[in-house]
Amino acid sequence: ADPAWRAVRGRVLTFLAPPLGAGDGASYRYLADGLVLARDGRIAAVGEASPLLATLPADTPVDHYPDGLVLPGFIDPHIHFPQTQVIASYGAQLLEWLERYTFVEEQRFADAAHAAEQAVFFFDELARNGTTTALAFCSVHPVSADAFFTEAERRGMGMLGGKVMMDRNAPPALTDTAQSGYDETKALIERWHGRGRQRVAITPRFAVTSTPEQLAAAGALKREHPDLLVQTHLSENHAEIETVRRLFPEATGYLDVYDRFGLTGERSLFGHCIHLTEAERRRMAETGSVAVFCPTSNLFIGSGLFEMGQAREAPAMRVAVATDVGGGTSFSMLRTLAEGYKVQQLLGRNWSALEAFHLATAGNAAALGLAGEIGTLEPGAFADLVVLDARATPVMANRMARIDGDLEEELFVLMTLGDDRAVRATYAAGRLIHAAS
Ligand code: GUN
Ligand code: ZN
Repeated sequence: ADPAWRAVRGRVLTFLAPPLGAGDGASYRYLADGLVLARDGRIAAVGEASPLLATLPADTPVDHYPDGLVLPGFIDPHIHFPQTQVIASYGAQLLEWLERYTFVEEQRFADAAHAAEQAVFFFDELARNGTTTALAFCSVHPVSADAFFTEAERRGMGMLGGKVMMDRNAPPALTDTAQSGYDETKALIERWHGRGRQRVAITPRFAVTSTPEQLAAAGALKREHPDLLVQTHLSENHAEIETVRRLFPEATGYLDVYDRFGLTGERSLFGHCIHLTEAERRRMAETGSVAVFCPTSNLFIGSGLFEMGQAREAPAMRVAVATDVGGGTSFSMLRTLAEGYKVQQLLGRNWSALEAFHLATAGNAAALGLAGEIGTLEPGAFADLVVLDARATPVMANRMARIDGDLEEELFVLMTLGDDRAVRATYAAGRLIHAAS
């Protein structure tokens, strides 16, 4: 068999356009017995299994999941690599949570051996949860980003990330300077950006931990490398917003701080965006900036409720959905979608399974500027796949017994009851990187 070829057979689902709501059958393509054919890591063809199988050399390896739902791998566009051991830290809201737990833990990533060991765990966990691409914050230490990209490359996973830039309001062991943050990010870009599937993102942590000089340096990086993504945090918590007002009295608001330094735009992703003003929402829309909804984190840290419905109203903001581990409580995008649904329920809004699964795949890909490359099963895209099993647990199987072949109902069961146990297999660039035992 030619090892460059691999086929995955099952119930194939991929989105063609953002669903307008429940029942939007035109937004996706579904094949009850479909085949995804990968060659050299990319999707070569997708279609009905039998005719496609007839065209393949007899010895092409075919992984068959008769009841499995084959989707593009999940994409997590906001996660913190050095916070895996921060998950489930008790009793604090954002600023205290950072000080008491997170800033302590992240200091351990100055040690390359610790970072390398945690990277193995981190990517194992992503794979177990069917996540094939993430945009991650590393710690302030360049060695943490090196560990992150080294492990991603070893597994053939396409990852984006950056060393956090932070030069004030944090322990001395966790700060850089405007100059060193610039220099170190520049060096990371040279080492990693565009090396195989890896990409570097400009990563000022948030306005609270950067001086104006550092935000200016981040803006300079963005001007010098306009194709790079920018990731940071925005309007997550009321005390945070007050602190930013105090630190940047000349700005009209929190978003304006980033705007002044050239850090808004179509390649900028802002975590949380819960408490934006109307003017800020308009400015987000105008600049094409992306608001990243992190429901498990927003509930766990007690930050507030992000209104998906409002975000979509004119002027519509671009949105993405992410775990925000370790403020977030799960690596699972299924768990994340479940909490996202509950947040919308609390706001008196609906969020259909079609919209949720679209966002976790093609929608998040578009937010990262990677539409057509990932998050889809169209030919030419990377063969990054997740195979889901809606009967993975007794409760799921029992619930599925009452569903008669309705795809949307099945997706809703998956997002409401599913987690890593519902992930049968994960593929990165056509290679099996996780198989349920
Ligand atoms: N704001 C600044 N840093 C962080 C972080 O690490 N997690 C969350 N949730 N918010 C932040
Ligand atoms: Zn975050």
